[in-house]
Amino acid sequence: MTTVHVMDHPLIQHKLTIIRNKDTGPKEFREMVQEISTLLAYEVTRDLEMEELEVETPLMTTTGKVIAGKKIGLVPILRAGLGMVEGMLSLIPAAKVGHIGLYRDPETLEPVEYYCKLPEDIGHRDILVLDPMLATGGSAAAAITFLKERGCKNIKLVCIISAPEGIRRVKQEHPDVPIFVAAVDDGLNDHAYIYPGLGDAGDRLFGTK
Ligand code: PRP
Ligand code: URA
Repeated sequence: MTTVHVMDHPLIQHKLTIIRNKDTGPKEFREMVQEISTLLAYEVTRDLEMEELEVETPLMTTTGKVIAGKKIGLVPILRAGLGMVEGMLSLIPAAKVGHIGLYRDPETLEPVEYYCKLPEDIGHRDILVLDPMLATGGSAAAAITFLKERGCKNIKLVCIISAPEGIRRVKQEHPDVPIFVAAVDDGLNDHAYIYPGLGDAGDRLFGTK
């Protein structure tokens, strides 16, 4: 059964309001997406396995805890997922990064794959799929299917804004994949844009419109 985590920390919500604003330009938009991603990284790594390690303080020897060497893979969905990578890497610097390129066909609204480059050991890593927008859920569901076909077993989906429709689709197709989002919006408009949303995340990140 899918778990959906809505991360409504005040710092995240504040930055989210900035990126929703139509007058926020690409520079600030990118910075905010990066900062939100760092805050999301803090939450999505909460259940990482720990192991004990002896450490000498200036006063005595004690036992501390360190992350138990579990390998993480970040998989941004191009293009907009790219905006989340640096923020995640700032807390998880040893993660490897794979890329999956998908665009939504404007007629069918279904995802079309155009690029894929993944680390060789992707099947042995805990995967965080990154995409700021979860609209119909088609892109995220397709990326997750693709990763499962390559042996990935432990996958989390990390988005910034989601629509209930997208959450439903990912839940239905991938009930084993936990979903982490900063907001669940009202729904989708006639062009499958999230409502109220923030518009086209790729265009706003890269200034293409
Ligand atoms: C956006 C977004 C997601 C997808 C979400 O990408 O970044 O990947 O749409 O929509 P869905 O849940 O209905 O699949 P887009 O196809 O606009 O490509 P881009 O990132 O290259 O702009
Ligand atoms: N993709 C976006 O970038 N924005 C939306 O609202 C929906 C899909």
